[in-house]
Amino acid sequence: MDTPTIEPRWWHGATLYQIYVRSWQDTNDDGYGDLNGVTAHLDYLSWLGVDGIWLSPTMRSPDDDWGYDVSDYLGVHPELGTLADLDRLIAEAAQRGLPVLLDLVPNHTSSAHPWFVEAVSDPASPHREFYVWADPAPDGGPPNNWLAATGASAWTLDEASGQYYLHNFLPSQPDLNWWNPAVHQAFDEILRFWFDRGVAGFRIDVAHGLYKDAQLRDDPPAPEGGLIGSRFGLVQLYSANRPESHGVFRDWRKIAESYPVPRLLLGETWVGDVGALAAFHGQGDELQLTFNFPFVFAPFTAEALSTVVADSLDKLPPGECAVWTASNHDISRFPTRWAGGDDRRIRLALMMLATLPGTLVLYYGDELGMTDVDVPPDLVRDKMRAVAGAKESRDRARTPMRWDSSPSGGFSGHDVQPWLPYGDHASGSVAEMQAEPSSILNLCRELLALRRREFAGQLASYEQLPAPRGVWAYETGGLTVVANFSDDPATLNTSPGAVLLTTGEGALDGLVLQPWAGVIARSA
Ligand code: GLC
Repeated sequence: MDTPTIEPRWWHGATLYQIYVRSWQDTNDDGYGDLNGVTAHLDYLSWLGVDGIWLSPTMRSPDDDWGYDVSDYLGVHPELGTLADLDRLIAEAAQRGLPVLLDLVPNHTSSAHPWFVEAVSDPASPHREFYVWADPAPDGGPPNNWLAATGASAWTLDEASGQYYLHNFLPSQPDLNWWNPAVHQAFDEILRFWFDRGVAGFRIDVAHGLYKDAQLRDDPPAPEGGLIGSRFGLVQLYSANRPESHGVFRDWRKIAESYPVPRLLLGETWVGDVGALAAFHGQGDELQLTFNFPFVFAPFTAEALSTVVADSLDKLPPGECAVWTASNHDISRFPTRWAGGDDRRIRLALMMLATLPGTLVLYYGDELGMTDVDVPPDLVRDKMRAVAGAKESRDRARTPMRWDSSPSGGFSGHDVQPWLPYGDHASGSVAEMQAEPSSILNLCRELLALRRREFAGQLASYEQLPAPRGVWAYETGGLTVVANFSDDPATLNTSPGAVLLTTGEGALDGLVLQPWAGVIARSA
């Protein structure tokens, strides 16, 4: 069979690192991390061996949703720094060979964005049509049954005009109207503005959103069991996931590819089926990378993970690159969710993530095995989940990075109250783990180095190998990887080959692989 010609791209076989800027390092002692804090730790990222950075929202915002409610797409949030600070960060990162992605929020703006302010104050203004407005239902209630991420109606009445506006998230996050060509034009300009400044690409928030059904049809009920892509009992068939959005990505891809170093579009594609996920790649002419939530939410078993990996790789159009990630700012961290805080499982997860073909995206703290932090109710800062009355807030995965073992963890000044609590210092900091050769951090660094040596610039092959129950074995590029996802030692049928790395001392004894241990070998 002919293999398609694959244009080499820097993200093939690479590791991206997501920095939640507010929680990385506070350089001005206001309790919030900032852009200068990111610049201050670029050497750490080079040491760790990542290949690129994605910064959580940096644009101006009232912070009802911590930057995911943008009031100025061309600015920098004053609490995080200035445009000059961002330019400096990008330049210093470039000196270390680290491209920087920003977070772009095209599904909605903040209600404080001048477009929305004008849309409300002057219904005759052209910006009225930047948003989704509809008349009340005959009973005076919302136009249809769509629900916001809080579980309440996705519509809020604008008393003055008597019309409802749509917001798939908080009422202060009005949805944009992508049926309006002027919205496309505005975003084309936003993309170019940042690409021209040297931004290497965007993580695109709610990429499965954008267009909404033109007839505003009701979302249908979801089957039992709550699929990814369903909300409070409804499938988001009409309130999101519309086919017209693909045209937007085709246009953006052309813009991204018009630069001498093509820019990267990485979608937050919150869909429950890997076929729908693959569709965001189009014919290799839409998003280059897409977050895989079926993988994120798969149980931590050999069977579940190997199935979703095989299925994902199978469905991707030829020459397209898969993305593997396990934590982010919206969900429980994998060391808690998958590993229950168990050191062995955390190591195994990192080994698996680092050896899958495609792009790896680590979340800050993954390399330390950082677990969720219990944030007491009076310290919760996540309004979305608070409004929803949810038990778990997303704050648990957004707490400050741990740089050292001092009371502030090196995040902020000693007497400064951080925006979210530090959590338990006993679970280790960068400084302590750097000094301990067998730490999770040093394992992660070795894994990333091996990943770079073996996979940089490539889309490696992948083939699952026969293995005992509970064991996942695969050959990828020149490596054989064997991972024991069970509480029992596993006896392998054959030696995996010359061992390059194990998840811990004594992981492999002859042909016996310890529980929750893994090995990477040079394929015979
Ligand atoms: C995405 C972001 C999340 C945000 C939401 C609305 O899912 O990751 O943090 O609340 O979009 O913008």
